Amino acid sequence: MTHLKRILITGGAGFIGSHTVRSFVRKYPQYKIINLDALTYAGNLANLRDVEDAENYQFIHGDIKDEDRIKEIFENYGITDVIHLAAESHVDRSITDPLAFLKTNILGTVNLLQAARSFWKEDLKRHLFYHVSTDEVYGSLGEEGLFKEDTSYDPKSPYSASKASSDHFVRAYANTYGLSIKISNCSNNYGPYQFPEKLIPLVINNIQQGQSLPIYGDGTNIRDWLYVEDHVSAIDVIFHRGNVGETYNVGGNQELQNIELVYLLCDIMDEVLGQLAGTARKLITYVEDRPGHDKRYAIDSSKLEKELNWKPSLLAPEGIRRTVLWYLDNAQWLEGVTTGAYRQYYKQQYQG
Ligand code: NAD
Ligand code: TYD
Repeated sequence: MTHLKRILITGGAGFIGSHTVRSFVRKYPQYKIINLDALTYAGNLANLRDVEDAENYQFIHGDIKDEDRIKEIFENYGITDVIHLAAESHVDRSITDPLAFLKTNILGTVNLLQAARSFWKEDLKRHLFYHVSTDEVYGSLGEEGLFKEDTSYDPKSPYSASKASSDHFVRAYANTYGLSIKISNCSNNYGPYQFPEKLIPLVINNIQQGQSLPIYGDGTNIRDWLYVEDHVSAIDVIFHRGNVGETYNVGGNQELQNIELVYLLCDIMDEVLGQLAGTARKLITYVEDRPGHDKRYAIDSSKLEKELNWKPSLLAPEGIRRTVLWYLDNAQWLEGVTTGAYRQYYKQQYQG
């Protein structure tokens, strides 16, 4: 079958990438989905078992830092569009090893842009480079206000600085070489298949293990939480109907202080595990704050809502409950990703 589009999705074995790949493979049999992933600690083919045999799906084990390989993939597969999600994505790791973030998030993105530009040069307008980014590029909010698409960039962690830089390169390739691009900047995602270095799966895992729940600082930092499938539905509408050259902010309008979120997780866990109310909360432990910890993120996604008629479908208490139930039902997946390397990371990060 000839496919209408041959879409390169990078980072498709990670958390958001695997949900994006699954959704596109199932919904668009007329497209070929080529998933390029380096399978770092965060990449896991078990996230995609249910689509791995699909006729319109192909996995490629490769690194976006590898310039020659990227060119070869564009040529061999006749890539028509890119949805770029591959990245080093965890702020704490960026504090320990900023160079890894520079290499993957900046250099890797520029490699992809170069390949796209040279492979699509005959007709740049027919192709799309869609870059998936984060609200963290805007920095940190005080008590008031929301991040809008025209909020100035003010990244404050090595992670957000590397993502901000990659966003700038994507826009520079549009401005300088005429590449057709779209960018979306999304708030904190949660849901199935998230690696348990991030707050929500870490707390679920630790409650199951009877381990302490580390809260950085005083727990009053605020994040705007979005269920991962709602992020994917935003990626879908932006990819298909968003205006070329535009940026869209994506958010759940679900601001929670970290401690409020952890209380919610504890209470749901007590209930579903049949424990006495208040049991899990006893595991909460305040620990030293993350250096440079951003106080508050909150997104204004009214542009996306008005222009493309997108809305999140699942709000926090239900989404959190669904996520908890998924982790409990998928104990094998969680066991698989919390072996040696994870334990070593955990020890280094939390026990110094
Ligand atoms: P993740 O860490 O779960 O997955 C990243 C994936 O990229 C992994 O499969 C990993 O193997 C792959 N990868 C890493 N380096 C690579 C390389 N050099 N070459 C090829 N593949 C490589 O991340 P995620 O949470 O799914 O985030 C995906 C994207 O969405 C990232 O660009 C991130 O910045 C962005 N984002 C994430 C969130 C969030 O809350 N998680 C919010 C907004 C935006
Ligand atoms: P995280 O899931 O790492 O996402 P991000 O840093 O990209 O927002 O963290 C979410 C919030 O939870 C953030 O304010 C840091 C805090 N946090 C803790 O308090 N303890 C932890 O062990 C972790 C991983 C995060």
